[in-house]
Amino acid sequence: MTMTDAATDTAQGRRYSTGAMVFHWLIALLVIVNWRLAEAAEHAARADAIQYFANHKAIGILILLLTLGRLVWRWTHPVPPLPSDLARWEKVLARSVHIIFYVLLIGLPLGGWLANSFSDRTVEMFGLFTIPPLPLGANESLGDTIFDAHALGGQIFVYLIGLHILGALKHTFFDRNGGIFRMLPFGKVPG
Ligand code: HEM
Ligand code: HEM
Repeated sequence: MTMTDAATDTAQGRRYSTGAMVFHWLIALLVIVNWRLAEAAEHAARADAIQYFANHKAIGILILLLTLGRLVWRWTHPVPPLPSDLARWEKVLARSVHIIFYVLLIGLPLGGWLANSFSDRTVEMFGLFTIPPLPLGANESLGDTIFDAHALGGQIFVYLIGLHILGALKHTFFDRNGGIFRMLPFGKVPG
């Protein structure tokens, strides 16, 4: 299968656009890295934990910016419809998971930034620039509550990623209706 075929699939609405693929895989990688960083920070000695969380926060804001770019891309480029042989419950489940992903991709970083602001902390963007706290005043207990929700949202995210991967595997190997190749620039996507 050549690149020309992939371009044809995209034009015919079977495969995602190249930009959508780049955003999808870059954000997916960063989300997994950020989850592992948060887990590592929870179990690390204090000095290491501070460094891990500094990276966690910066990567989290980067994910937020990339997600906003991804949504602009999504609204300005055609999105392939789900394969027509999916059962109704599969379509509803797949779309629901995708929508919850977008909510978490925006809500987790915003919540993290908000909670940080209640203890007046900045986010250092890899030494390039500094994101200031929102001017909200100190409120440690509200900050803690938001962080609890943030950690819960992060856990839910991880379970849903598992479900999303299972779905992709099912559509690739059992239904053979394109599956993972709809999000890749190669492989067979039946029309
Ligand atoms: C999409 C982006 C993000 C994801 C997927 C994510 C995920 C997570 C997860 C899974 C945890 C829980 C670790 C655990 O308790 O086992 C966590 C904790 C934390 N996150 Fe994030 N996060 C993101 C963005 C951010 C941002 C932007 C900030 C701050 C600006 C932030 C600050 C924190 C802090 C401080 C904790 C520790 C909370 C606590 O337990 O007290 N996160 N994050
Ligand atoms: C780890 C974090 C991940 C996130 C946040 C994520 C998020 C998303 C979102 C939001 C969509 C919907 C695209 C749209 O229509 O706007 C999507 C589609 C898709 N994802 Fe992921 N994804 C992740 C990981 C993965 C992995 C590991 C795989 C492969 C095993 C995968 C395979 C796919 C496929 C094949 C589609 C296209 C679904 C279709 O046929 O329409 N994703 N993903």
